Amino acid sequence: MEKKLKIIPVHIGIIMDGNGRWAEKRNLPRILGHKEGIKAVRRTVKCADKYKIKYLTLYSFSTENWKRPKEEIEFLFSLMEKNLKKEGENLHKNNVRVRFSGRRWELPSNLCEIMEYVEKLTEKNTGLNLIFAINYGGRREIVDSLKKIIEKGYKVEDIDENLISKFLYLPDVPEPDLIIRTSGEKRISNFLLWQSAYSEFYFTRVLWPDFDEKEFLKALYEYQRRKRRFGGVLVK
Ligand code: IPE
Ligand code: IPE
Ligand code: MG
Repeated sequence: MEKKLKIIPVHIGIIMDGNGRWAEKRNLPRILGHKEGIKAVRRTVKCADKYKIKYLTLYSFSTENWKRPKEEIEFLFSLMEKNLKKEGENLHKNNVRVRFSGRRWELPSNLCEIMEYVEKLTEKNTGLNLIFAINYGGRREIVDSLKKIIEKGYKVEDIDENLISKFLYLPDVPEPDLIIRTSGEKRISNFLLWQSAYSEFYFTRVLWPDFDEKEFLKALYEYQRRKRRFGGVLVK
């Protein structure tokens, strides 16, 4: 493995998958996999900070995850609420700016309140930008963008890629350079559809609760080996 990291992605998106299977392998209820997954979130945020990643987006709940049993959904939301409460001050001390992407107004009000609190608390921080995609769906984000464009009275001839980008949930966040998915599945599952047009993808069989610094580094080394062309030709 190369020794030096020379090319670092500005924005990493992670599809944190495999919590359920981690628990099932141990004959535990799925929710304990989610609980264990929180530890991997903590480790990953530390890594992102350590390796000077500017933006980290963690896919935490998709617009399709509402299909899951009510108890699992409630557990996930209460886990988010508890950990945001617990970690908010700590993230703030570490100069992390926390934000959220997705249809937050459809989430339970207790969770929304703590989301808004942490967002406000860390608003001026200049370190890592940590984004949790909660009740997020890439298709829904594009539809929501188009609705805003129409509401604002833009004409057909005004609509172009820049305008659609401008009305996405977090328009100032750069597109992800690298998207990591754990658990062995090789699909996008409605994550950052618009923004991932030219992202590099890294898939690992490691289940999310087992994801650690070693795995994070493997993805970074793989990323720096990639030749990004963006449809053009490589300039040597
Ligand atoms: C990812 O783990 C967490 C969320 C989607 C919230 P899963 O719960 O999807 O775990 P598997 O895919 O069933 O193993
Ligand atoms: C994607 O994982 C969503 C999140 C990680 C939040 P899923 O487990 O929901 O995806 P599918 O159903 O396997 O495609
Ligand atoms: Mg899954």
